[in-house]
Amino acid sequence: MAAKGPPIRGWAATTYFVPDVRAARDGMASWLGRPPAVDDASLCQFTVGAGRITLHPADEKAAPGAAGQVAYWALASLDAMAAMMEWFASHGGRTLRKPVSGPDGGWVCQLLDPFGNAWGFWAPAPTAVEAATSADRAWLADLWRREWGGETQESHGASRHVSEVDAMVAWRGGRRVGAATFVVAGGVAELVTLNAEPRGQGIGSQLLAAWEQRMAVAGVGRLTLTTTNDNLDALGLYQRRGYRLVRLLPGAVERARLLKPATPLWGEHGIVLSDELVLEKRLGGGEDRR
Ligand SMILES: CC(C)(COP(=O)(O)OP(=O)(O)OC[C@H]1O[C@@H](n2cnc3c(N)ncnc32)[C@H](O)[C@@H]1OP(=O)(O)O)[C@@H](O)C(=O)NCCC(=O)NCCS
Repeated sequence: MAAKGPPIRGWAATTYFVPDVRAARDGMASWLGRPPAVDDASLCQFTVGAGRITLHPADEKAAPGAAGQVAYWALASLDAMAAMMEWFASHGGRTLRKPVSGPDGGWVCQLLDPFGNAWGFWAPAPTAVEAATSADRAWLADLWRREWGGETQESHGASRHVSEVDAMVAWRGGRRVGAATFVVAGGVAELVTLNAEPRGQGIGSQLLAAWEQRMAVAGVGRLTLTTTNDNLDALGLYQRRGYRLVRLLPGAVERARLLKPATPLWGEHGIVLSDELVLEKRLGGGEDRR
């Protein structure tokens, strides 16, 4: 059995150790174009992206400047990295390590700010979405076993095997990083599953957009999908992209669990998995408020 890892919730802040916090604070505030969110006598903190930068006095435990660990900030693309390098160069910074491609196909570089701190930046390799071929089938079946507890999907009474669905596959740096699986019947396309690995880097959005485009070209008029009551992130994602809630199926997951006992009891956000929600989007007809 795999050991449980430490209960870490995610990265929070990067600390730069500086000779003089007051001087560094003023320089960093004008450089970042914002005041510190926390400004104590011997420590201050700025909000940057989803994280924070702390300025802390250098001491016998930590020397100032680029001296070892480097935190990497995520950027959207390699173009964004080029823009960041230009921005550093025009604001008194410089390149410490030029962009290189890493083993995940992404790009990394390190830049020095005018105060001597090293900033790491990471940008994902471009993602391409392609129609699945027979060469993707074994990987898709493995994805379903890993992410959906088996090779079948149960949803409001219907059971679908992975070999029966069509699919679009996302590729990044020569690797498969996600998939949308679907079936089309009678002018209606149903999204059966959507997965991104890793999450939160735009792969799911890109898959969904590519699937919608393919369905529009195929003349499909209506898109539908089912998600579960716990999946608040997916519910947000779909609604922000024009999908509307059209049906609630109370207890549908409990019934599906009888057919597929591997279905977990607990879902995301500590919510008990019990109900299904059906969402729909019309294609080509503009706003359809039903
Ligand atoms: C749902 C899923 C496919 C989304 O793909 P993704 O690549 O992680 O999503 P993206 O990076 O494209 O982000 C899409 C949106 O969700 C938001 N988001 C992503 N991860 C999030 C998280 N953990 N919490 C809150 N919002 C999140 C993004 O900010 C983005 O917002 P936007 O609509 O304003 O652009 C993916 O998270 C996944 O594989 N989940 C597990 C399987 C699943 O639940 N599938 C859906 C079942 S119907």
